Amino acid sequence: MKYLKKFLNKNKTAFIVGGSGFIGKEVAKAIMESKAKVINLDIVNNLKKFKSIKFEKFDCSKINELEKSFERILKKYGSPDIFVNCSYPRSHDWSDNSFSKVNLQTYKKNVDIHLNSYVWLAKFVAEKMMKRKKGGSIIQFSSTYGLVGQTMKIYKGTNIRESMTYSVIKGGISNLTRQMASYYGKYNVRVNSICPGGIQAKYMSEKFVKNYNSVVPLGRLGQTSDVASAVLFLSSDASSYITGTDFLIDGGWTSI
Ligand SMILES: NC(=O)c1ccc[n+]([C@@H]2O[C@H](COP(=O)([O-])OP(=O)(O)OC[C@H]3O[C@@H](n4cnc5c(N)ncnc54)[C@H](O)[C@@H]3O)[C@@H](O)[C@H]2O)c1
Repeated sequence: MKYLKKFLNKNKTAFIVGGSGFIGKEVAKAIMESKAKVINLDIVNNLKKFKSIKFEKFDCSKINELEKSFERILKKYGSPDIFVNCSYPRSHDWSDNSFSKVNLQTYKKNVDIHLNSYVWLAKFVAEKMMKRKKGGSIIQFSSTYGLVGQTMKIYKGTNIRESMTYSVIKGGISNLTRQMASYYGKYNVRVNSICPGGIQAKYMSEKFVKNYNSVVPLGRLGQTSDVASAVLFLSSDASSYITGTDFLIDGGWTSI
């Protein structure tokens, strides 16, 4: 039991930005099961049936109001022990971010609402954790595509396109993780990135799934539960000596 107990987050508070999302819902449930008090910060509430998960309406794309709106939540719940950002803010023309289609305005908008909001929130939370002197765990959602270039052949014959902007955003999040781990380590504030590969979703065509599976060593797309268990590990004391990592959940995608 000594080791299993380390996975419990009893008496801890967890903020999850984007907890209503495809991956976020599974993450919120995993952290709830670890006995933490969970607060979902999102623009919609998809977790109403889980009575113990609190919801706070929070729009991270309003970048100039981030600190003010986050302060309001901190006032209500105090500084969190665990902070997970798995939000996916995007502009209405997000699908136009391939090299051939993207325009400067769209590119800048997405960098602002996605990369800059992740950066600013993480910095803000880390400062609060540092001042509180109890340490903490910050988990930022990056992607395999924050580490390597996109594999063009998996898009062949599908309606999914590569995204130049996504690689800039996720690469920025992953390197900020290293910088923050270095700076906040002495305050026991741990900062890690989660880097999922493709996660199986309903919108994916048979062709895309086939293309994808053919290039992954484990031969399949990931599941949201594969991601949630990794987040649970990084959130808990079971990972107390882990900071500054890009935690890969990719079936071996980046190993070849
Ligand atoms: N799904 C994948 O295959 C995959 C793979 C690698 C990385 N990721 C990363 O994982 C994260 C989650 O992805 P997902 O597939 O669950 O996305 P999703 O779109 O299903 O969920 C994103 C969540 O963010 C919330 N959100 C959007 N705009 C917001 C805003 N302005 N303020 C607050 N919340 C906002 C949405 O309401 C939603 O609940 C993203 O950062 C994504 O880049 C996903």
